[in-house]
Amino acid sequence: MNAAILINLAYIASAILFIFGLKQLSSPETARRGNLISSVGMLIAVVVTLLNQGIVDYRWIAVGVVAGSIVGIFAARTVAMTAMPEMVALFNGFGGLASLLVGWAALYDGRTSVFIAVTIFLSILIGGVTFTGSLIAWGKLSEKMNSRPMLFSGQQIVNSLLMIAIVAFGVLFAMDPTNVTWLYVLIGLSFVFGVMFVIPIGGGDMPVVISLLNSYSGLAACAAGFAINNLLLIVAGSLVGASGIILTQIMCKAMNRSLSNVLFSGFGSPKTGAQQIEGTVKPIVPEDAYYILEAASSVLIVPGYGMAVAQAQHVVKELQELLEKNGCEVIYGVHPVAGRMPGHMNVLLAEADVSYDVLQEMDQVNPRIENFDVSIVIGANDVVNPAAREDEGSPLYGMPIINVDKSKTVFVLKRSMASGFAGVDNPLFFKDNTRMLFGDAKESISALVREFG
Ligand code: TAP
Repeated sequence: MNAAILINLAYIASAILFIFGLKQLSSPETARRGNLISSVGMLIAVVVTLLNQGIVDYRWIAVGVVAGSIVGIFAARTVAMTAMPEMVALFNGFGGLASLLVGWAALYDGRTSVFIAVTIFLSILIGGVTFTGSLIAWGKLSEKMNSRPMLFSGQQIVNSLLMIAIVAFGVLFAMDPTNVTWLYVLIGLSFVFGVMFVIPIGGGDMPVVISLLNSYSGLAACAAGFAINNLLLIVAGSLVGASGIILTQIMCKAMNRSLSNVLFSGFGSPKTGAQQIEGTVKPIVPEDAYYILEAASSVLIVPGYGMAVAQAQHVVKELQELLEKNGCEVIYGVHPVAGRMPGHMNVLLAEADVSYDVLQEMDQVNPRIENFDVSIVIGANDVVNPAAREDEGSPLYGMPIINVDKSKTVFVLKRSMASGFAGVDNPLFFKDNTRMLFGDAKESISALVREFG
């Protein structure tokens, strides 16, 4: 068997491991194993690629491995759990940049057919858009830049002209790949297009954008794989491309919005027409909240971004145990876009060893929501905002929410009357059955735990 066949067989083994790994990532119980299996696949792929002939100089590879490892270890150790989505955005962006560079380098391989030129064009275009688009997404999510949608008149015309220019220069480049001027222009245009693509989208929609850009980074890698004729890059790129787009669809569905609405509607820009909120805010102190909880026979806990900020998951678990010891049924209602990244609440609750049996999704808790004696909303806001159901003028209108306002009593734990990520007021806080337990979520829950003790 010759070396090329062996290499391709090893690549196929890696691809199979990636697919099994991905499958296992779909459930929290098997996710760790899935990660490990995919990593083994990647290790095989890297080793085989390094053993392949054609490596010019291993010293450069060593420099890359050392530099990448230092940055990776530093980032993994220092990034706060709440800043994880921003980090993912940056990783996607650099994935796109890497594909752009691979595509560019392929130009010097000496294989200059039209097909290769088109794949180089695609890896540069998609990689470039992914790179700058991800940097803007990072800026908006980390609030390093204004997270509101940036809209200006004529924006769509500018974008259309940009697209026409990209296609025109792409054709010129494909016809004469040796003329690098077209290439430089294309790189510049793809960078500009990435910025233009993301600036009109509000910070609240950045997770969807990041997932979409993740998909793009896969497509860019796939195109780069064709450009350098690497089977594994094509397969791995396709897997990332497909899984990113599936996640994007899941998130859009959870918000009851189409992808084009997310990308083009300027969601999050100031709107008029939202209803005036009526009712009064009724604060409650932990001592009084305790008496109600002590008498409750079923409690729904709805965590949100504020639980992550307060790092309250461990005390929440303590409260759950105390309630259960008191004969109360405790269920966690997890909204698919609670927090700031897919699975954010699941990760935090798993860290506190909350059993998967008591975690339920929005569609499981909503049908029986009237039966819960108390819903405790811990740092969640948008995902329990009844305006999404009741107020057609609200920017959140149509987003499926956990209908905590329909349970018998609602405790909302947050520090102030401030709005959530979407910047929308919440009528839940003014409902007759709602009591506001103001303060840091960790401190408020600890106070409740002390009352039980
Ligand atoms: P949000 O609507 O963002 O509300 C979080 C609330 O937590 C805030 O109103 C804040 O109020 C409170 N809070 C912050 N720190 C706190 C602390 N230390 N103690 C107690 N409360 C604290 O959160 P959500 O309900 O989870 O909704 C998520 C939102 O983010 C949605 O709009 C969603 O579309 C968007 N989003 C989702 C994702 C994904 S994929 N999960 C990613 C990005 C964005 P105070 O300041 O008054 O305390």
